[in-house]
Amino acid sequence: MRIVYLDNAASSWPKPESVKDTMSEVIEGYAANPGRGGHALAMKASKVLFRTRMQLSRLFGIQNPNDLFFYMNATQALNQAIKGLLQAGDHVVTSTIEHNSIRRPLEYLRRTKDIEITYVPPRSDDQFYAEDFQRELRPNTRLLAVSHASNLTGVILPIKQLGAVAREQSVIFLVDASQTAGVLPINIEEMNIDMLAFPGHKGLYGPQGTGGLYVRSDLELEPLLHGGTGSQSEAIEQPTTRPDRFESGTANTVGIAGLLAGVTFVMDKGIETIHRQEWALAKKTIEGLQSMPEVEVYGPSSAVERVGVVSFNVKNADASEVAFILDQQYGIATRAGYHCTPLGHQTAGTEQRGAVRASFGVFNTEEDVELLLTAVGEIAAAFNP
Ligand code: ALA
Repeated sequence: MRIVYLDNAASSWPKPESVKDTMSEVIEGYAANPGRGGHALAMKASKVLFRTRMQLSRLFGIQNPNDLFFYMNATQALNQAIKGLLQAGDHVVTSTIEHNSIRRPLEYLRRTKDIEITYVPPRSDDQFYAEDFQRELRPNTRLLAVSHASNLTGVILPIKQLGAVAREQSVIFLVDASQTAGVLPINIEEMNIDMLAFPGHKGLYGPQGTGGLYVRSDLELEPLLHGGTGSQSEAIEQPTTRPDRFESGTANTVGIAGLLAGVTFVMDKGIETIHRQEWALAKKTIEGLQSMPEVEVYGPSSAVERVGVVSFNVKNADASEVAFILDQQYGIATRAGYHCTPLGHQTAGTEQRGAVRASFGVFNTEEDVELLLTAVGEIAAAFNP
């Protein structure tokens, strides 16, 4: 049975051939330690990190590639951004569709450092508006932290307007691009983004274990990790130079080389083309599911553009059971449950039952959507005789 992979919001798959080839070239040819030795292989490994930093900087409009730090995933990057910035007494404004990777570090700091948090909900159309965030800013608001798009409903937040609000009020603006890096245009200057966290293994088509954080040059963060950086080894203190200050320990050279191939694949294809393609598949899915009376689809109306993420439930059926049948009987991979966003599920009204989520990537086709719709139609009929 051919696998129809619809779990790209968790990790994109398959990966482009170039990602696989590049990673095996590095393993076979030069997987030495980058930034630690002066020999030819170590230099070659360092160079691949540098080239990846350059390519990601081009993608996000970052002027100085050294302001971009590699992490294993967006969660690590977000932890560094949030815990490295906030101090006791700070106030943070965020949204009610956040993933646990923003919510948990914030709630941890609420408990341990007495920070205050305001969660801004969507309006009745399931969309978010910059004015609603602006209204919540206070004199002690230090940070506005939001996802660029929801991993549950795919709704896109008004990042440019939020960036303008943050800049006007001198609030630091952190964006979690977990569902949008490689899928929607992101320009840190035009969007006034001070910190940008992104995974490498989703829309950028790199391997798992890759991701990063951009931090504006003049924004000081406390590093979460201390240790070997390959530079200023004689100093007891962590170096102040970037990116070393934020990159302790040996980098994932093989993965980062794969990420370079992934980002290059995305840039060659074009972000706009990718988004158009994924949105067309999502829209077809939303409309197909909405035409089934036993199926409920979450998020804004199908007229509102989203990223390629569609969550739904079948009447009288448990979300996990639906996903299990899709997988076992139809070879369709989706993700059911709470998607690491119980807050998002509360917002969507699905906190009691979770949902089934189909999420699209660049290799999905209309045929995949048709197979999903047929399968869900059959499951819905079976559970609602
Ligand atoms: N955050 C990922 C997801 O939404 C893992 O599935």
